[in-house]
Amino acid sequence: MDNEDFRRHAHILVDWMADYMESVEDYPVRAQVEPGEIAARLPEGPPEEGESMERIFADFRRDVLPGMTHWQHPSFFAYFPANSSPPSVLAEMLTATLAAQCMLWQTSPAATEMETRMMDWLRRMIGLPEGFHGAIQDSASSATLCALLTARERETGWAAAEQGLGVLGGTGRQLAVYASAEAHSSVEKDVMVAGLGRENLRKIPAGDDFALRPEILAEAVEADLDRGITPACVIATLGTTGTGGFDRLGPLGEICRAHGIWLHVDAAWAGSALILPEQRWMIEGIEAVDSFVFNPHKWLFTNFDCSAYFVRDPEALTRTLAINPAYLASREGGRVIDYRDWGVPLGRRFRALKLWFVIRSYGTEELRRRLASHIAWAQELAGQVAADPAFDLVTPVSLALFNFRHHPPGLDDEAELDRLNERLLEALNDSGRLYLTQNRVRGRYAIRFSVGQTNTTRDHVQGAWETIKETAASL
Ligand SMILES: Cc1ncc(COP(=O)(O)O)c(C=O)c1O
Repeated sequence: MDNEDFRRHAHILVDWMADYMESVEDYPVRAQVEPGEIAARLPEGPPEEGESMERIFADFRRDVLPGMTHWQHPSFFAYFPANSSPPSVLAEMLTATLAAQCMLWQTSPAATEMETRMMDWLRRMIGLPEGFHGAIQDSASSATLCALLTARERETGWAAAEQGLGVLGGTGRQLAVYASAEAHSSVEKDVMVAGLGRENLRKIPAGDDFALRPEILAEAVEADLDRGITPACVIATLGTTGTGGFDRLGPLGEICRAHGIWLHVDAAWAGSALILPEQRWMIEGIEAVDSFVFNPHKWLFTNFDCSAYFVRDPEALTRTLAINPAYLASREGGRVIDYRDWGVPLGRRFRALKLWFVIRSYGTEELRRRLASHIAWAQELAGQVAADPAFDLVTPVSLALFNFRHHPPGLDDEAELDRLNERLLEALNDSGRLYLTQNRVRGRYAIRFSVGQTNTTRDHVQGAWETIKETAASL
């Protein structure tokens, strides 16, 4: 493809992108295909001869699009949002065009210095105190892995990285990690990947408010100490994935401080709401926190991937992850930041650019207004659900998330209610009109409702409620 062809096709694609954004509501929210259906449309092997962009793009529309779930559909109420926005997409176009590897300051000074500044903008926007330093990670999973690795190394005096995990057994320094039973599955995966062993993850029960119970954490820490096991890291969740619970940083911080335990905060979803000063209650106790992650790629209008990881002690992080072969040496040495030392992958995309575009294009006031609206619409709907005799509000609304179930008066068999709600969810998602996620709360089937897509309006939320009621009545 020569440059003229590129220009022509880029214009065609941009027109298509703008049309897509305008008409995304015409698509079913969740892909309506069967497993294998898309693979069957793709040739088994690669073409020997290059093909025209017209053909490739036509095949994209015909064969690929039907297999896409439309996360930017305003009736997407499943999982958590991964909300994108026009300024973010524009920045991604530039990032793809520059195609720079931003691993060292030298390999793109602007990318490094922009990342430092954007992390500081985000820090100020969400009210984290000065003294936290940030880097962009690909995901909250990776950020939490970095936290666990740093905690592990700090606890072993950087011996595990040098001598391998055998050193943990050899010195009798078996390490334990603590998180709420409501914590995200990435915590368990990260414990496994960090070589700490799933058996050493203590899942601390949550209370009725879905927050980790500090008194049980304190007991678990004491029990480990009695057995000669070293408590290495507590992972607090702000906004648990299933239920929207908030672990209380104050009491957790006290326990961590008393025993020198690393305190990491996973605020993957809820962290964006900290741009609203009235939601800062959730970081009360932040003084004792060592590391903190939230995902602008969930609820801050910034394309995946963009996970903001903040640490109080960058040196502990870079000491854990730095590696210095001759070919990566640079003459700037300690005078600049080389973000390759702040995470696992060496290569890094220029992800700060999309934050710069998004934050400047909307301004913080409009970002706050949008998130406050999502929260208000979810709260309004949760109130309507609670007031309807044919529905139960299964969890109280937490920011823009709640769980509900259909509960026709007189039907009280729990197993039957589970099956009824499973059928309701399938019917709703099969309709293509909206998309919701199943959940289990205290062992019972529930349907999760999460508001946060960029173009969602109050009408979409209320429209979803009408669809839910109609569909439930028709079962
Ligand atoms: C609380 C929480 N932590 C972590 C994650 C994982 O996020 P990521 O996909 O960025 O790894 C999620 C995803 O929904 C989450 O809800």
